[in-house]
Amino acid sequence: MSTTDTLLSVEDLHVHYGKSHVLHGVDLRVGRNEVISLLGRNGSGRSTTMKAIMGLVPPSAGSIRLRERELAGARPYAVCRSGIGYVPEEREVFANLTVDENLRMGEQRAVPGAHRWTVEQMFDYFPRLKERRNTKAGSMSGGEQQMLTMCRSLLGNPLLMLIDEPTEGLAPKIVAQVGECIVDMHRKGLSVVLVEQKLAIALKVSTRVCVMGHGRIVFEGTPQALKADQQLVSEWLAV
Ligand SMILES: Nc1ncnc2c1ncn2[C@@H]1O[C@H](COP(=O)(O)OP(=O)(O)O)[C@@H](O)[C@H]1O
Ligand SMILES: [Mg+2]
Repeated sequence: MSTTDTLLSVEDLHVHYGKSHVLHGVDLRVGRNEVISLLGRNGSGRSTTMKAIMGLVPPSAGSIRLRERELAGARPYAVCRSGIGYVPEEREVFANLTVDENLRMGEQRAVPGAHRWTVEQMFDYFPRLKERRNTKAGSMSGGEQQMLTMCRSLLGNPLLMLIDEPTEGLAPKIVAQVGECIVDMHRKGLSVVLVEQKLAIALKVSTRVCVMGHGRIVFEGTPQALKADQQLVSEWLAV
């Protein structure tokens, strides 16, 4: 990948939680319009990698660049403004606001080159949100809150979305809608980094996969290459 095609570049990223050293030099490059799945067992450091990129946990060493801009040490709002959207594992909705109001809260002027999204598009992806547009978000199911968090982030018109386990605990029909939504983000030119426990979905939507183990990337390649390597799957992914 030439440097001009690189959107996000993470180099030798280290993170400590107190004395516990959890990221041991993560290297990750995300190109324009790539969908990368970050795979690995629980505790391998996938969420911490995303949180470090977002400025939610401070890196103890390493660099995080979006295009040419250094983001290591930047505040979360500044990371978000620079064009990175984040959907955390925990569904984060404004409980006392309606679905509509939550969506409006996410709206942000698009950075140059980013696709512009509309609330109507969100309702096309997730018709259930349209039905519930005047409902207080706090009274909705976990799955509905998850869809809402994802749509609110998209309305920030990011260049890159970091999405942490979006399908966890969702009904199969909603899982399929989430998958479709990610495929469409790709079609519209976004880059996506996805943490997804369901290997079949990750392999289907990704252009490239990275496997994490012990706080490092231990494999990087195409979904086909991962699928063909049963030893790798059993060593790093099988439970
Ligand atoms: N806030 C925290 N404080 C201390 N240790 C943490 C914290 N969050 C995660 N960890 C530890 O860091 C390691 C990586 O966790 P995490 O990034 O959440 O992994 P994953 O998302 O791959 O399951 C794990 O050993 C986990 O227990
Ligand atoms: Mg996690």
